[in-house]
Amino acid sequence: TALASCGLGGLIGQTAELLTSRAPLPKPFRVPLPIPPVKRPVRSDGTTDYYEIVQRPAEVEILPGLKTPIFGYDGIFPGPTLVTRSGRRTVVRHRNELPVPVVVHLHGGHTPADSDGFATDLVLPTSGWRPPRHMAHGGGAMLGDVSEGEREYVYPMNQRAATLWYHDHRMDFTGPQVYRGLAGMHLVRDDEEEALPLPDGDRDIPLMICDRAFEEDGAFRYPALDRKLYDTPGVLPDYMEGVLGDVILVNGAPWPVLEVEGARYRFRILNASNARRYRLALRPGPSEGAAFVQIGGDGGLLEAPREHDHLDIAPAERFDVVVDFSAYKPGTEVTMVNLLGEDSTTRVMRFRVGRRVRDHSRVPAKLSTIERLDPAKAVRTREWWFRRGRTGSHKGWTINDKTFDPRRMDARPKLGDIEIWRFVTDLHHPVHVHLDPFQVINRGGHAPGPFDAGWKDTVDVRPAEHVEVVVRFTDYRGPYMLHCHNLEHEDMAMMTNFETV
Ligand code: C2O
Ligand code: CU
Repeated sequence: TALASCGLGGLIGQTAELLTSRAPLPKPFRVPLPIPPVKRPVRSDGTTDYYEIVQRPAEVEILPGLKTPIFGYDGIFPGPTLVTRSGRRTVVRHRNELPVPVVVHLHGGHTPADSDGFATDLVLPTSGWRPPRHMAHGGGAMLGDVSEGEREYVYPMNQRAATLWYHDHRMDFTGPQVYRGLAGMHLVRDDEEEALPLPDGDRDIPLMICDRAFEEDGAFRYPALDRKLYDTPGVLPDYMEGVLGDVILVNGAPWPVLEVEGARYRFRILNASNARRYRLALRPGPSEGAAFVQIGGDGGLLEAPREHDHLDIAPAERFDVVVDFSAYKPGTEVTMVNLLGEDSTTRVMRFRVGRRVRDHSRVPAKLSTIERLDPAKAVRTREWWFRRGRTGSHKGWTINDKTFDPRRMDARPKLGDIEIWRFVTDLHHPVHVHLDPFQVINRGGHAPGPFDAGWKDTVDVRPAEHVEVVVRFTDYRGPYMLHCHNLEHEDMAMMTNFETV
């Protein structure tokens, strides 16, 4: 099936960044932190676990007394958490009961190309929605692998334990569709990690952090409304910086509170925001030791723990951290703050510390071994420029001065080769590479920064900076995407493809 797109991002004439809610903001630290339910497989056999997710519209109460229409995996936001086992095949059948086409990407997944959620591999709605005329021809005509109503995504899970997430990846519409609720966590577990005495069970908690703004009636406020997305050809705004909301949600709840015992907790922190960066800290800080002990990043465990007073986290990055609440007096209220916020976004959530309890967990000095990719063995260096469009007809955002074209491959790395990729920016861009993680070797001409450790799949490149990473793709041939994970930048064409050969 051939489908075309207007290629215009669906963002209507706005360059606005910080959106102000029209609904009254709720009082912080009232709602208990929700934990998304863990999805059960519909069946399992010797090698494979099978899951079924229905994407559907729903109404949820996020602000007290108001209903927010969402697009939800299984009708909830965040979607259910998948917990799968390294080495066991995972098959997820997604059925699309939404009024819009979707694409599902497992972020951080080492996934064959046909299941990676290429931006034009649409799953059309079961309702029979078809693209309107102005999107069905012209411009960036695209030939994707389009499915009707549902699609099975097959994940070999040939990868180590890590905190992944899944989210929408539809060309030009990822921003609005993720903002509407299409995001969930996916944890991969393995024996190596389970053998460690890290906090687990109720003390292993995902924290999906994102910002939103709300209309008066409780609807999400976003510069493009669905009706307009489909009825208006769209006007490409100049250099849309990305959408920022004034309400911080953790696991879908505004500024929630979590009752914790005086013990160690493991938090898998994901920044699922469209465009917002956070600098997370705890107030008060612990009486001794660091606020956060980082044990893992995007691609799983670090070799050794790293202590941080604060965490800088850009869109799509994950930090797996341990916080020791026994370092606080029982009764202390510990607020997770955002040192980069404006007013209402300077706080994120709160922990209410209870009595000290017996805690057998600890953070071992050695967590894992990481194969170091040797830059001296790199067969080539590729340079990727992330910047604003230069020419009149190419407003929006570009990579190597080109806007996204699903048919154009900008690199053909050979499977098994080690390469150095150099990301250079004008402004601030969180750069994400599909298929395999990388290791940061250089940031701005210096050693990697404090938040660059371990295997990463997203790296925040600061204004006028360059970051070098060493990468090696393995196993799967195909077209894969490379893009800015500021979702408005991505939708405004800051994306390209490479083909592994
Ligand atoms: Cu999290 Cu290409 O995406
Ligand atoms: Cu960007």
